[in-house]
Amino acid sequence: MEYTTLGGTGAIVSRLGFGGAAIGLTNYVYAFDPADPAVHARSIAAIEAALAGGINYFDTAPGYGNGLSERIFGEALEGVDAVAGHPLFLASKLSPATPAGQVRRLVSESLERLRRDRLDLVQLHGSSYSLEDVDRLLAPGGLVEHLAALRDEGLVGAIGFTSEDSNDGVYRLIRSGAFATVQLCYNLIYQHPYEPSRPFGSLFTAEEHGLGIITMRGTTSGILQRWIQTVNPANTFDYTPALIQFVLSNPLVDVALVGMRTTDEVRANVALVDDTAGRIDLDQLHERYV
Ligand SMILES: NC(=O)c1ccc[n+]([C@@H]2O[C@H](COP(=O)([O-])OP(=O)(O)OC[C@H]3O[C@@H](n4cnc5c(N)ncnc54)[C@H](OP(=O)(O)O)[C@@H]3O)[C@@H](O)[C@H]2O)c1
Repeated sequence: MEYTTLGGTGAIVSRLGFGGAAIGLTNYVYAFDPADPAVHARSIAAIEAALAGGINYFDTAPGYGNGLSERIFGEALEGVDAVAGHPLFLASKLSPATPAGQVRRLVSESLERLRRDRLDLVQLHGSSYSLEDVDRLLAPGGLVEHLAALRDEGLVGAIGFTSEDSNDGVYRLIRSGAFATVQLCYNLIYQHPYEPSRPFGSLFTAEEHGLGIITMRGTTSGILQRWIQTVNPANTFDYTPALIQFVLSNPLVDVALVGMRTTDEVRANVALVDDTAGRIDLDQLHERYV
């Protein structure tokens, strides 16, 4: 496993992170029933395989199956404090629409489901942020100030935010100085956050401001695969390794999250991290003249 330092958090984290949406959500990406006991046992086994493979970064959210993903992590990670000598890093989230007065209760409920007394990272669970949203979040007495109070008393280690977009709101949040990390959508079919030929993009800005960079939807959440099956139903080529290597090849990406549901997927993806010969030169890939 390859490890790196997650920006200003100082934490040493595996470059492959276990994305917890897939194990908690019903029929997410592919047909899936997390309530089925056999499926539940498979999810626990996948997390155990991730620990055995050296993954110490785990990402979840209360929204992934109404707390189910957090409960599964709580069960599988109970008593685990370190992986390959590096402290376990557990990240969860909170809706940016949460009334500030409910922050403590909601974080405490996450901790109860996760069977922990401290979260390493709590992130605003965003899809998009308008400039008005940003002003509201950062205002005195607002959500971020309440999260900072939990951080100052040690209930959470750091504060971050997640976003599907890289719009003005995201740039302002990155530059605000209020966050230690950012989690952004970035993959082969969504490259707007990193355009090396200009260079331009939210990943560059996040790096400049010292944020730890986490990416989501590493294998495109099945969108590329669905498109290929639509235009070429006979296709059998497995695009997953190249998609994961694409994200890992980005020097600004600290942690590439991938949703995994089986031990086979975990082992295959861990092997990819070790296969550094599979990395791509992204600058060269973006060359327009040969
Ligand atoms: N706004 C936010 O904060 C936000 C939004 C989206 C995602 N996220 C985070 O990012 C994580 C990753 O995103 P994601 O789960 O949406 O998408 P993803 O990682 O692109 O795709 C997940 C799917 O990839 C498949 N997969 C993984 N390894 C594979 C392998 N070796 N071979 C074949 N298929 C493989 C799994 O398929 P099977 O179903 O067949 O197992 C899984 O359902 C999430 O789990 C979540 O933690 C955060």
